[in-house]
Amino acid sequence: MAHLDLQTEQPSCATDGVWLACIECGEQFAPFESVRYTCDECDGLLEARYADLPTWDDFAGSGVWRYAAALPFDEGVSLPEGNTPLHEVPGIEAELGLDRVRVKHEGMNPTGSFKDRGMTVGVRVAERVGVDRLACASTGNTSAALAAYGARANLETLVLLPAGKVAAGKVAQASLHGARILEVDGNFDTCLDIVQDLATSGEAYLLNSLNPFRLEGQKTIGLEIMEQFRDEEGDYPDRIVLPVGNAGNTAALYKCFRELEASGAIDSDDVPALTGVQAEGAAPMVEAIENGWDHIERWDEVETRATAIRIGNPVNAPKALPGIRSTGGTAVAVSDEEITAAQRALAEEGVGVEPASAASIAGLRKLRESGDVDDDERVVCLTTGHLLKDPEAAAEAGVDPEPVPGTTEGVVEHLEAN
Ligand code: F0G
Repeated sequence: MAHLDLQTEQPSCATDGVWLACIECGEQFAPFESVRYTCDECDGLLEARYADLPTWDDFAGSGVWRYAAALPFDEGVSLPEGNTPLHEVPGIEAELGLDRVRVKHEGMNPTGSFKDRGMTVGVRVAERVGVDRLACASTGNTSAALAAYGARANLETLVLLPAGKVAAGKVAQASLHGARILEVDGNFDTCLDIVQDLATSGEAYLLNSLNPFRLEGQKTIGLEIMEQFRDEEGDYPDRIVLPVGNAGNTAALYKCFRELEASGAIDSDDVPALTGVQAEGAAPMVEAIENGWDHIERWDEVETRATAIRIGNPVNAPKALPGIRSTGGTAVAVSDEEITAAQRALAEEGVGVEPASAASIAGLRKLRESGDVDDDERVVCLTTGHLLKDPEAAAEAGVDPEPVPGTTEGVVEHLEAN
């Protein structure tokens, strides 16, 4: 089980009040002197630790870097990112019988997904460490973000994608931003195995969510939700529902809340229940939560229309499982049909998201039906990527175009006849 105490006494290996700690054995490491993604001693996941944890008064400005006091640097390679809208969705509220449902639309980031929040910090760390090539495995969004931030930082970028399983918009982004794209004959988990080997042998700096600094940037989703919800609604949300792939966001949000609690910025009963949603065809986290396991069993065969979360080996599970459990959350699997129905429901409110994002609404719907979410809960659903990321899925879920003649008369006739 993960090592959960946030230790704030600064070890001698710290640089400017920042260090890395293993969540399993507690071993501490210097943050930027050498490249390291997991613990030298036990191979456990690492997380960033700080000598000083900020409270609300320490934040100023807008976007990810508003929260610099909670990050390892004061500024980063920025496009800029964050400051995404918290949408009201009255139709969905009415249908679900809930008073307050808000949708945090991370698809409104510069490259159209939450990954930008991690990259602005992760690429800054890469500059500090002094690497010349960045790499990631990706179901698409990470590659789009890394390509853009790598381009901005003038660093070479290598992305490994599962061949034929990445939505068109994402490949186009990686391509135009100039990443070198390797299409791997295998699924995302195979891509991540390979890129981890490349990183370990020094071929490239890894910017998947195994990299603890990327999750520091993604922590700002939680900080932003808490501030926005409090300012608009007068209190903090009771629950945050999010799609889960590699479980990086789940881990990042949990760390966000642990730090806020440790600094005294919130009380323990202010921590929202972290609720993860996976596609039925790729649901090892749901399986682990349902069975009470402290680890996940890797799924070798995965399939879902929500290609962004087509993942069988969520590498951040050791951070995310304790997060879901200790915040009183849960995890639920949804079918592709339920995902598409939720994508349409959001679209009817004017909110355009890609399939994986709609999993959060589909999951909330399911948890309302099962009675796991109470009538008086205030819920934030995270939508992680923009509609245009996956134009094919959007067109399939939407209405069909109607062919008409090229004359006004013909168009009027068509409208009258149909
Ligand atoms: N939603 C979208 C749109 C994503 O692209 C991802 C992950 C997730 C949800 C899941 O987030 O991994 O933090 O649990 N996409 C990664 C990628 C794997 O390569 O773009 P997670």
